[in-house]
Amino acid sequence: TDIPPVKDVVDEFPVGAAVGPAQLIGNHAQLLRRHFNSVTAGNAMKWDATQPTEGTFRFTDADRIVAFAQANGMEVRGHTLVWHQQTPDWVFKDAAGNDMTATPANKALLLSRLEDHIRGVAGHYAGDISAWDVVNEVIDENQSDGMRRSRWFEITGLDYIRTAFRVARQVDPTAKLYINDYNTNVPSKRDKLYNLVAQLKAEGVPVDGVGHQMHVNIDWPSISETEAMLTKFVPLGVDQQITEMDISIYTNNSESFPTPPRDRLLKQAYRYRDLFDLYRRYASEITSVTLWGLADDDTWLDTFPVTRNDAPLLFDERLQAKPAYWGVVDPS
Ligand code: XIL
Repeated sequence: TDIPPVKDVVDEFPVGAAVGPAQLIGNHAQLLRRHFNSVTAGNAMKWDATQPTEGTFRFTDADRIVAFAQANGMEVRGHTLVWHQQTPDWVFKDAAGNDMTATPANKALLLSRLEDHIRGVAGHYAGDISAWDVVNEVIDENQSDGMRRSRWFEITGLDYIRTAFRVARQVDPTAKLYINDYNTNVPSKRDKLYNLVAQLKAEGVPVDGVGHQMHVNIDWPSISETEAMLTKFVPLGVDQQITEMDISIYTNNSESFPTPPRDRLLKQAYRYRDLFDLYRRYASEITSVTLWGLADDDTWLDTFPVTRNDAPLLFDERLQAKPAYWGVVDPS
């Protein structure tokens, strides 16, 4: 087909997709190459994939993604060095093999494992990554201090974040270093994230950017709330990226359609249009926009938060352009 490439129409910043090995071959690879100039590994760079057992690093899938990107002139976003999910149990075991409690010895052990992991992974890809999600989903707006009670936080306080950014900067000085989170449009969460980034920057921790995941749906959030999310961070002088965008056709957990209804796909198209219009107006702040998947045949929303057929991306399960594609490409 000769429909316009998304990346040529939206030329204010790179436009990316999250991928796995299945997107690097055949028709998926063709679609990826044609429309996108950035990629993120959907799972292949996470801790459980890259260091499943202590000291044993595995880069097979992630190396293929990076090689594909380089062969096709695409940027690579690194995702993610520190998270409370998809992290093997061994990371949080103490010297005796029991679950760590918050002691000074366990804190030292956990921070040294964190440093080794970042040296191993960010070191392996040094020079190849445009931006690393150094820490992912560390905010909990329901805590008065704003910090998620992950094992990372329970055992080290804020030190895991400080260590992660400092080590990442040391081993890959050319990557922009990001703090990434979801629901950053929600004012209470947005403000807690802002306060954390302001504190880290005041301490000299090398945070370059804020990543907004943007897992949204056809009704939520409003464009003005999304704009307020972007303007909030401007005074901090950080870059911003949209890191995991998708627009679910569902607005609550009890809906389920065997095939996506036409009216939902049209609503979705208008939302894609309005959100990309917003991003393009904020192109001086935004340095890339990534969709969390390539096409509707393979989306994490088919199993999260419940199992059902979702259709959150620009291309359908047969890799054909949807109304959502035209919302981005022909926003009239
Ligand atoms: C998801 C992947 O897409 C799934 O394949 C996996 O089973 C779970 O993780 N926020 C993030 C991403 O930061 O890493 C998540 O990716 C989606 C939510």
